[in-house]
Amino acid sequence: MAKPLNIALIGTGFMGRTHSNAYRKVRNFFNVPYDPVLKVVCARDAAKTKAFADTWGYESTESDWRKVIERKDVDVIDICTPNNLHAEIAIAAAEAGKMILCEKPLSMDGPQGLKMVEAVEKAGVPNMVWYNYRRVPAVTLAKKLIAEGKLGRIFHYRAKFLQDWTINPELPQGGNGLWRLDASVSGSGVTGDLLAHCIDTAIWLNGDMDEVCAMTETFVKERKHTETGQVQKVSIDDASAFLARFDNGSLATFESTRYARGHKALYTFEINGEHASIFWDLHDLHRLQYFDYRDASETRGWKSIHITDGDHPYMSHWWVPGLQIGYEHTFVHQVADFLEAVGKGEKAQPDFREAYRTQLILDAVLKSAADHNWQKVEHVKPA
Ligand SMILES: NC(=O)c1ccc[n+]([C@@H]2O[C@H](COP(=O)([O-])OP(=O)(O)OC[C@H]3O[C@@H](n4cnc5c(N)ncnc54)[C@H](O)[C@@H]3O)[C@@H](O)[C@H]2O)c1
Repeated sequence: MAKPLNIALIGTGFMGRTHSNAYRKVRNFFNVPYDPVLKVVCARDAAKTKAFADTWGYESTESDWRKVIERKDVDVIDICTPNNLHAEIAIAAAEAGKMILCEKPLSMDGPQGLKMVEAVEKAGVPNMVWYNYRRVPAVTLAKKLIAEGKLGRIFHYRAKFLQDWTINPELPQGGNGLWRLDASVSGSGVTGDLLAHCIDTAIWLNGDMDEVCAMTETFVKERKHTETGQVQKVSIDDASAFLARFDNGSLATFESTRYARGHKALYTFEINGEHASIFWDLHDLHRLQYFDYRDASETRGWKSIHITDGDHPYMSHWWVPGLQIGYEHTFVHQVADFLEAVGKGEKAQPDFREAYRTQLILDAVLKSAADHNWQKVEHVKPA
């Protein structure tokens, strides 16, 4: 019998919806030791929060996250707010002994992330950060192939995350939906928002990064701020690109922008090893492109593997071979893995300490871009 686990969701935007969907679905598809109970949802607008609770089946609503943390009937705090609130909520939740699921990026910067790591480790509470792309079955398969040595020595890692939704200079900055354009709320622009995903996947697949050399640009320098009504300086990076050297000797390029006309969420990575190469594309997320030089020469070439068979990661839980799954399932997988890990007394990854590694790389990227030089990446010691 699965034991009830009472969830408090803070934030009802894009991620609030993906997580709620995952809690509702997980036990229909995974035999997990806990049953997520949608106990309370919290956001600032009372009427919208009530409507959200009705849609997703939350038992109650709150408008002050501190009250949620004080509640004795809550086991897990799930942080789906803009980035500037992650640390305050997570540290308070850890001190109250709650389990914590926190959206990415972990924090506004490395030093703040370290405080969060220390808080959860001092409290000894289970914690995890929603770097959900690790749970795309094709990406999980890439991890397995690399771990099995199928690629051999890795020479190159190449990642991109391209969007085009901020090209219009009339788009305001700040406030609901547009907090990503205000660095006092987001921490940074595409570096912390999009490259954070690319970096998390990269360090998971290819290990620690040694040094980076970056450039950033803000194409639209001033925008009206929705909260002040004034035209103000834009404080985020609109585009960010960096070179990196991994500890394993491989060379990497990372690029992200919200100014690539025609691309909505084009997250791609390619890895070139001595025996084989892998390519993955979020717009075609159920496929993994694979080239193996050891194949017979007559039929050697890039394969497009349709990741739908029962022996592909996570897929035996879903439909039948040939029928693919999508974006929302990555969150279901992440909840399933978290509940499984809590049941076994293990750490679900990426935990805060693991996500802090990404934070330090983000800091090095931004410092490199500001100083126009190479930056060494500080390595994170195991707990
Ligand atoms: N894992 C992913 O792929 C992914 C994708 C998108 C966003 N994110 C992350 O998720 C987080 C939320 O992003 P989003 O796109 O859902 O944002 P959003 O703007 O859609 O929603 C933010 C929510 O936070 C609420 N909120 C703001 N201040 C609050 C407060 N003081 N108390 C309670 N609630 C408050 C808002 O009312 C809103 O419901 C961010 O950290 C973002 O980086 C992750």
